[in-house]
Amino acid sequence: MNKFVLLALLSSLSASPVWAGHFNGHVDVKVGTLSSRAAAGQKVFNQKCGSCHGLNGEGTLAGPPLIHDIYNPGHHDNGSFSRAVTKGVQQHHWTYGNMLAQPNVGFSDMTGIVSFIREVQKHNGIVKKAHRM
Ligand code: HEC
Repeated sequence: MNKFVLLALLSSLSASPVWAGHFNGHVDVKVGTLSSRAAAGQKVFNQKCGSCHGLNGEGTLAGPPLIHDIYNPGHHDNGSFSRAVTKGVQQHHWTYGNMLAQPNVGFSDMTGIVSFIREVQKHNGIVKKAHRM
């Protein structure tokens, strides 16, 4: 194979959305100042979601960071957070496996959790983008 073909192949691989999004550790998250609702959500999130999604949504080896461009509100709206928690998630963006439903998290917990994730996303430059996948 000639060098240019190989290079073109490699760069197309790294530009493909699946592998560009693939990730197995954690990202640096700046929490910033939170509203009181988001601060309440932070506590619940770190307790009930942190084992997989990491402290403040930074990700772990068991689950993806939610402070990630994939989860910007244009691609995963607030409803997708409630669905994830009430119904679980089939593995589709990553290779961590499925997320099971989290029956110990109620509606009032979710409003705080979503506020928390959205505020921290904003503090990390993650803003709404049109869904183009
Ligand atoms: C046992 C591990 C685990 C726990 C606990 C967990 N999650 Fe997940 N979650 C995952 C995995 C793994 C995925 C990624 C699935 C994929 O897209 O491949 C995921 C995906 C998600 C998504 C994306 C949904 C979508 O439509 O793609 C949201 C939102 C989410 N989790 C929120 C939460 C919240 C909120 C909590 C706490 C109440 C929580 N998760 C607890 C493992 C977990």
